[in-house]
Amino acid sequence: MRRAEELKERTVWKSDPHTQVKHLVYRHYLQCWMGKSCQTFPEATIVDAFAGPGVYTDSPPGSPVVIARTFLEHTAYQRFNRLNLICLEERPDRVEELHRQFAKLPKAPKLHISIQPPGKFAEQQPRLSALARRPRGDPRPVGGRSVRPEERAVLADPAVPCRTTRRGAVHPLHERTAPLLPA
Ligand SMILES: C[S@@+](CC[C@H](N)C(=O)[O-])C[C@H]1O[C@@H](n2cnc3c(N)ncnc32)[C@H](O)[C@@H]1O
Repeated sequence: MRRAEELKERTVWKSDPHTQVKHLVYRHYLQCWMGKSCQTFPEATIVDAFAGPGVYTDSPPGSPVVIARTFLEHTAYQRFNRLNLICLEERPDRVEELHRQFAKLPKAPKLHISIQPPGKFAEQQPRLSALARRPRGDPRPVGGRSVRPEERAVLADPAVPCRTTRRGAVHPLHERTAPLLPA
């Protein structure tokens, strides 16, 4: 079966070298981004808006699991604050598989995973943007005051509109990683 057919017909498909390189680049970028954002900000959010099933038939993890594991296995994890990981995928079978893949990860109170019901990005985008910017963590004020929006770091999928805040906390993932990918 050709790759395009496999992607269309099956819940989970085989990875390819491009995907593996992309995930390697994600992992390296996320290690740096998390090292800074998850210690500087009381909470950080990553939106994976084309999440897929979280695994490939030849066993490498999909991008949402890459993100979660990069957080959990980070050398600075003990000093990290909360990370919200919001996932959107349009196909119900892949959303189900993603739930199964995340269920295999160790429970971690600092990692809040939110798998959205199946939905198309274009229709869900305003809701996703609002979710990404809403404080979800401990409602108690930090240092005696509430967390301001610019004090939350948001790393978004390529298609999620991003804005730069006063402290540059909102980053589109593709801008940082795309130039590193092979043509
Ligand atoms: C190439 S896969 C990427 C999977 C994952 N990001 C990874 O790197 O492991 C793209 C996924 O996006 C989903 N998808 C395609 N169009 C979508 C849309 N408009 N909204 C949400 N998901 C979509 C597909 O069903 C597919 O599972």
